Amino acid sequence: GAMKTFRIAAVPADGVGREVVAAGREVLDALASAGDFAFDWAEFDWGCDYYQRTGRMMAEDGLDQLKAFDAVYFGAVGWPSVPDHVSLWGLRLAVCQGFDQWANVRPVRFLPGVTSPLRKADHVPLDWVVVRENSEGEYAGLGGRNLAARGPGSEVAVQSSLFTEAGCERIIRYAFELAATRERKHVTSVTKSNAQQFGMVLWDDVFRRVAAEYPHVDSDSCLVDAMAARFVLRPEELSVVVASNLHADILSDLGSALAGSLGLAASANLNPERRFPSMFEPVHGSAPDIAGQGIANPIGAIGSAALMLDHLGLPDEAARLERAIEATTAAGVLPRDLGGTASTKEIALAVIDSLG
Ligand code: NAI
Ligand code: MG
Repeated sequence: GAMKTFRIAAVPADGVGREVVAAGREVLDALASAGDFAFDWAEFDWGCDYYQRTGRMMAEDGLDQLKAFDAVYFGAVGWPSVPDHVSLWGLRLAVCQGFDQWANVRPVRFLPGVTSPLRKADHVPLDWVVVRENSEGEYAGLGGRNLAARGPGSEVAVQSSLFTEAGCERIIRYAFELAATRERKHVTSVTKSNAQQFGMVLWDDVFRRVAAEYPHVDSDSCLVDAMAARFVLRPEELSVVVASNLHADILSDLGSALAGSLGLAASANLNPERRFPSMFEPVHGSAPDIAGQGIANPIGAIGSAALMLDHLGLPDEAARLERAIEATTAAGVLPRDLGGTASTKEIALAVIDSLG
């Protein structure tokens, strides 16, 4: 039959982002060469080095260049040479917001052979997904600083959150649709509506309204501080956790640490309407403390590749890749952050060997 070719834009960006994207690409190409599909890669050298040369984090027409691709495979952005808010807004958030990737899906997966800091994980099956609102909320970029008017030492800054009914509704609906496909049909909504009485109360109202449309999916609401404790103490209750941009950002890092390491966590930044490409990236950052040593954990990036396969309409290949990741960790091929000695490359090769 005709070979399906997927055009993928690789944006490794900075630090360990480059190492884990290279590992993920090797795994994806191995998977494709054994199947009846192929990847046509274009790599973009955007990031903090590019910024040093050009004063921009990405090409001026970067979004136009990316628009033609089936997906974006992203590493991590950020380096001490550039202020973090400049690098993040100039590249990662520019793509997420420019392509209306309003759903950020972050599975919390417990892998065989990986020790969780939670003792409960040894005997209770744990598996949940954080669904993060990815287009507004606390990261809407609204606000300003006022130094001139008040003088040195008296500066004032305002950072506002934006919550729209449409923005709340689409992410909450996404969470219910996802929960309906899972074994445990349950959605937990996270806010801080006792303290933040406008945006988060709007979110709560929309959550109640949408929940009523899904009688076969259970739901509950939880304040974010209580939720942080619940992640640690009663994680077996969780299936789909939906939260605002900031809250879900924090909770998903907590989730990945509970699963064993930040280096394990995968994520998908989705434009569910498919008007624009979606972007797949590990949850972790550029890890300047270990960059360039070849020891970064590529499992978050490889898991993100599995999420990309699913999005490209290859669910069987995605499942095959997930199983290969599990076989790799179960065999004790672990990177430093999980107490092992395997290099980034060795883990990618072990995953390739396990593809079967
Ligand atoms: P980070 O995630 O880069 O590192 C936090 C800790 O986790 C470090 O000790 C690091 O060594 C470790 N770690 C992270 N990824 C790992 C991996 N794959 N394997 C093994 N260990 C790993 O977060 P940090 O230090 O707060 O930020 C560093 C830079 O990354 C900053 O410039 C920040 O703005 C940026 N960043 C970018 C993100 C993105 O592109 N999506 C997300 C988070 C941070
Ligand atoms: Mg984060």
